[in-house]
Amino acid sequence: MTRTVLITRRAAPALLIALASVTSALSQTSAVAKAIVPTPSWSHPIAPILYSNCTTCHRPGGAGPFSLLTYDDARRWSTQILTVTQSRFMPPWLPEPGYGDFADNRRLSAEDLDKIKGWVQDGMPEGNAAEAPTPPKYTSEWQLGTPDIVLAAPESFTVPADGQDLFRNFIYPVSVTRTRYVRAVEILPGNARVVHHANILIDRTAELRRQYASDWRAGIPGMELEIGSGDRFDPDSHFLFWKPDTPAVVEPPGMAWRIDPGNDLILNIHLKPTGRVETVQPRIGLYFTDKAPTRAPMLLQLEHDAALDIPAGNSHFVVEDELRLPIAVYALGIYPHAHYLGKQLEAWSIAPNGARTPLILIKDWDIDRQSVYSYRKPLLLPAGSVLHMRYIYDNSPANPRNPANPPIRVHNGNRSTDEMGHLWLQVLPVHAIERDRHGHDSDARMLLERAWMEHRLTRDPTDRLAAYNLASLDSMSGNASGAISIYSKLAAAEPTDARIATSLGAAQQQNGDWRSAIATYKHALTLDPAYTDARYNLATVELQHDQYDAAAADYRALLQQHPDDAAGHGGLGAALAQLQQPDAARTEFDRALALDPAQTDTLANYASLELGANNPQHTQELLTKAIAAGAHDPAIYQQLAFADQQTRHPEEAEAALRSAIAVDPSDPTNHSLLAQLLAARGDLASAITEQQTALRINQKDADGWSNLGVLHAQSGQAAQARSDFERALALDPQHAQARANLARLNTGAAKQ
Ligand code: HEC
Repeated sequence: MTRTVLITRRAAPALLIALASVTSALSQTSAVAKAIVPTPSWSHPIAPILYSNCTTCHRPGGAGPFSLLTYDDARRWSTQILTVTQSRFMPPWLPEPGYGDFADNRRLSAEDLDKIKGWVQDGMPEGNAAEAPTPPKYTSEWQLGTPDIVLAAPESFTVPADGQDLFRNFIYPVSVTRTRYVRAVEILPGNARVVHHANILIDRTAELRRQYASDWRAGIPGMELEIGSGDRFDPDSHFLFWKPDTPAVVEPPGMAWRIDPGNDLILNIHLKPTGRVETVQPRIGLYFTDKAPTRAPMLLQLEHDAALDIPAGNSHFVVEDELRLPIAVYALGIYPHAHYLGKQLEAWSIAPNGARTPLILIKDWDIDRQSVYSYRKPLLLPAGSVLHMRYIYDNSPANPRNPANPPIRVHNGNRSTDEMGHLWLQVLPVHAIERDRHGHDSDARMLLERAWMEHRLTRDPTDRLAAYNLASLDSMSGNASGAISIYSKLAAAEPTDARIATSLGAAQQQNGDWRSAIATYKHALTLDPAYTDARYNLATVELQHDQYDAAAADYRALLQQHPDDAAGHGGLGAALAQLQQPDAARTEFDRALALDPAQTDTLANYASLELGANNPQHTQELLTKAIAAGAHDPAIYQQLAFADQQTRHPEEAEAALRSAIAVDPSDPTNHSLLAQLLAARGDLASAITEQQTALRINQKDADGWSNLGVLHAQSGQAAQARSDFERALALDPQHAQARANLARLNTGAAKQ
């Protein structure tokens, strides 16, 4: 198995957030006292308004600076409440109405504004306290209850009292032993005061942890990470964004995300010094569901960072980008992002027929109020639609958020005094599979990724990441030679980059040129002897091409660096099994499975060893686990059928073969094996049908015809049997069995 890398560079992405709120309690209470509503009082309607719109933040321990849970609180702050609601400073809500209909809309209605105004003007009466709604209950621990798994940062991190904002990446190895689906995520920062916002990335190959093998426990600095996506196309798909007032990210039905053994979560966290030395040790809670996702969304990004060069004093600096969608999608959510000079952020989509769909408009951007917005109803954007983003920056002294006074020239960058202009859109392809330009069926998201990367490359032909990802897409869609030509160019431009060399090797391997692949992997290892993927791939090609000693040596080299690499132990086991060292092989297989019990390759290789060593029980056990872990290779069921036969469990063998046929009905071998099994149980009629199916798939199988002849002969159909044997002999005149059977048949006929 080859590990291809698709890099997706992400800056400060985001999350789809459903507030873990108290709406059920509130919806009951807000119906109270409909009957007589004379003057507005706190009991009604003010408390319900505050409980629905304010107290998620304005409560003890919340993000707001004071609590608004009681009548006394509300009374004390009433003048300010009036001012900030009239000015729409509170509740914090940036999008303009009419530009996208968002699920967690926080904008107060005109009626609610009037009620608050009337109540303050009437002298803030309490009303009948007995009729007041019960205050919502908030917990400072997990909002969604006890998580299925809690991941804790191994070490705490100390934030100095003052200085620049900090970005820290905490790495969490995920302790799952099989694939799980995450339906919700919650983050407990450990110290809400210093955490501005945070964002979770999934590191499928635990690459970052390997890169920082000795010091990852304390977290690593920096805010732009490049992470390989592992050996399958697995683009970023969810906004896993957190800020203090939106503590839980709950995915909609059918959109859980996958976490596999060996994956790491990376919490990219933005910390703001508070004036005191503070420590943080964030925890992540994961909530699982058994339901595999049925919908595969993807995040797309618009930006034009290269254009961000804003002269001092310019109050209307425009940055734009657009992206044509090759396929129809639903827009599910949107996350606009700029720093302090961003003023007006707008995005829209134009359909091929000219229809305009507004996606968002923010007239007075405020980075401290950034959020992910999800659409109440998915927005259909037809194929050929063009997404537009248009951001306006104000670098004049009139911008009260301008960090520099007097203003200075500002470029793009990650520090909060640099600027950014990103627009992330979460989209769901209308059809999960679409035709690509070569007429092949493709994961629709690959077409989006390609359109996105090609767009980046048109704008900036030196965009290394875009070229790299296009090569990876070529490779993943089976166009190995296309991939080779791009990787070769990249390798020529960056001759010391071990990752590019390794990907080139993987494409050569895919193209069948395994000798070049071996040479390229060896070259990658001269560039970086510790580059695990190159070592692993090298060992694996060697294993596949019968260079067992070399393979064993390379797996051992890998394991010396990473003693806990499960796939490394599995590979070494396979090499040792081939080298006729079954006991040493077993030790490696056991070690591999102790580290990661769900490795299908290792389970299957171990099973082959045991089947050959006449240990059918252990073979069965291993193969059953492989199937449970998601292995659907018909060869696995075949092996299982052999083992079941050895242990005299024909029913189970039959079930295994039927599963193999269900996975791949077009493989004649399974039908033939099933025919033999059925014949051994005396069910000749079914056996004949099964064997005929096999021969319909592969008519040139001389053995198959000979076997069909035997079945026909056994069931007394001599004429059929004769023609079967003749057919076998026509295909293979040397077929000894068919010849002997035909002779026996003729003798038998002569006897009758
Ligand atoms: C998403 C969290 C959140 C929600 C919801 C929220 N607030 Fe606030 N509120 C804050 C924060 C944070 C501050 C501190 C100022 C700031 O950082 O913007 C604040 C400040 C205030 C202030 C003080 C303003 C000042 O001039 O200092 C008032 C009054 C207020 N909020 C009232 C309300 C009311 C009334 C509601 C509901 C209608 C509400 N808030 C909803 C987070 C929130």
